[in-house]
Amino acid sequence: MTRHLLEVDDLSPAELAEVLDLCTALEPSQVLARKGAALIFEKPSNRTRNSTEMAVVALGGHPIYLKPDEVDIDGRESAEDVARTLSLYHSVLAARVFDHQVLVRMAATVDVPVVNLLSDLSHPLQAIADLLTIRAEFDDVAERSVAWVGDYSNVARSLAIASAMSGMEVRFACPDGYQPPAADLEVFASHGAAGVRSEADPAAVVDGADVVVTDAWYSMGQEAEANVRRPIFEPYRVDAALMDRAAPDGIFLHCLPAHRGEEVTDEVLDGPRSRAWQEAANRFNAARGAIEWLVSESGEGR
Ligand code: CP
Ligand code: NVA
Repeated sequence: MTRHLLEVDDLSPAELAEVLDLCTALEPSQVLARKGAALIFEKPSNRTRNSTEMAVVALGGHPIYLKPDEVDIDGRESAEDVARTLSLYHSVLAARVFDHQVLVRMAATVDVPVVNLLSDLSHPLQAIADLLTIRAEFDDVAERSVAWVGDYSNVARSLAIASAMSGMEVRFACPDGYQPPAADLEVFASHGAAGVRSEADPAAVVDGADVVVTDAWYSMGQEAEANVRRPIFEPYRVDAALMDRAAPDGIFLHCLPAHRGEEVTDEVLDGPRSRAWQEAANRFNAARGAIEWLVSESGEGR
């Protein structure tokens, strides 16, 4: 059966464990030898494009980057026709899209794995990289808590699912109007989170937390909202005083790119608790492990 990765919970907990094992294996298998991977981007990228391209190379394959105006999904041709065509040449399709439904439609059309490289809803490869970073830090992940501060973004949702599936406590400090919907909180609880909290006060949420995480106050595509959002999110900047409330061995994560001086200060991002660069390095490991697993599970591709 063809397997796709549009959100972390497309994997069962046991499958997520298998993916994490592959991410940390010394030698990947050459599952993509003499095969292609199409990487479609509707938005800019530094980490995702480069880590995924190099992961495909590490698996023996050949990545082809398709820039936003090149295939022009639902403009030049439909998402289904783009996917059908690319699946004639490639063993993996991966895409960064504005509308998550585009990925759903592509996955429904083709018999090769479709991988979400970020959508408005989720960013699963980022979450797997974050989980690798947290596991490298703490042996007892299920005893730990993750405190998300700021905008409830695509990255927040995927990280919360990955954390919940690992048995962690999941906390959110987001301003009114930018908090996780109740249905998502129920999803996190159903995935086995040790606890789920969402409130407006960042200090209370970060108190004693083991992992403090934030993201841009306005995501790609929301730039026009920047001036409205900045004053609303001002109290949610992760600075040294907020990090001082975390557990003594607590760490700071940021998916990057960072808007230094907005959601995080230089002092925190460049400070001793920051693991943002290990996290960025883990994007390669996450892509390699996830793609190896998806291709292996999906059987003979192109
Ligand atoms: N974290 C992340 O996805 O970075 P890019 O947008 O640079 O790919
Ligand atoms: N939430 C951010 C993440 C960037 C990696 C965005 O979607 O722009």
